[in-house]
Amino acid sequence: MQAKIELGDIQETLLIPLYGRARDAAAKRSVLGDSTAIELVDAIDYDFGRFTGPSLPGSVLRASIFDQYVRDFLAEHPDGTVVDLGCGLSTRFDRLDNGTVRWFDLDVPDTMALRRKFFSDAERYTMIAGSIFEEDWYEQVAERGGPVLLLSEAVLLYFPDERVRDVLGRLARRFVGDRIALDTGGAFMMNHQEQNPVFASIPARMQWTCDDPRTLEDLGLTLLESRSFGQPQKAVARTWPWKYRLLLRPAARTPMVSGYRMNLFQA
Ligand SMILES: C[S@@+](CC[C@H](N)C(=O)[O-])C[C@H]1O[C@@H](n2cnc3c(N)ncnc32)[C@H](O)[C@@H]1O
Repeated sequence: MQAKIELGDIQETLLIPLYGRARDAAAKRSVLGDSTAIELVDAIDYDFGRFTGPSLPGSVLRASIFDQYVRDFLAEHPDGTVVDLGCGLSTRFDRLDNGTVRWFDLDVPDTMALRRKFFSDAERYTMIAGSIFEEDWYEQVAERGGPVLLLSEAVLLYFPDERVRDVLGRLARRFVGDRIALDTGGAFMMNHQEQNPVFASIPARMQWTCDDPRTLEDLGLTLLESRSFGQPQKAVARTWPWKYRLLLRPAARTPMVSGYRMNLFQA
């Protein structure tokens, strides 16, 4: 029997990247090869066909850029700690597990209840039902010591500016010296959401506009890398089908593409 969905409005958006990864896995040349996503889509009672448009491949390309931030971190710190804040039904741990990383996946209780139907905790893998905006998970993550990479992909975009800046300031103070990867969307993207077909059938809308990720440095963060879809890491670009590379290079000059950025900060 398929799992029924009881998710809040923002939580429902996790089904977009899930479907994107499933379609990618079914493609002749897959970027992520996430065959688990196909199984999850089959196992969930939801009309995924309502999602169309560039956000589906976009969520796959985005995930591949974030994956590389994690790979780079683990290459430097093989037994470091990774925390995916707002993980949804991501399979990133399975994709990137190097055998020594300590990994936490955190999401709000309704999403975590869905996630727990399909995933289980393991020796180095722990799921936490919680919020990126609360601090109750900080100790659990920090108690092991050592370097931490926090990542939050397509989560903060859905919240108002003051809440995002507040939480980023708190994370910067608590995780000094650690890294934080997150995506930012510029005004053009925010102002054209209604033209994005994935939003036609769901109520959630993005709220946080950030035209320049460097403005987050006044919260105690140092920007290490900032990439649009036109500037993936070299190793990542090689995994993308030619059509995306050819399309995105010129498109990267448009405000829609250049304004959506995947960023890596040091706290
Ligand atoms: C667009 S989905 C992204 C999911 C995942 N990061 C991915 O890329 O596949 C947004 C996610 O934010 C999560 N979320 C919503 N409110 C949250 C909060 N306060 N703290 C942590 N995660 C939250 C949702 O449950 C959902 O999984």
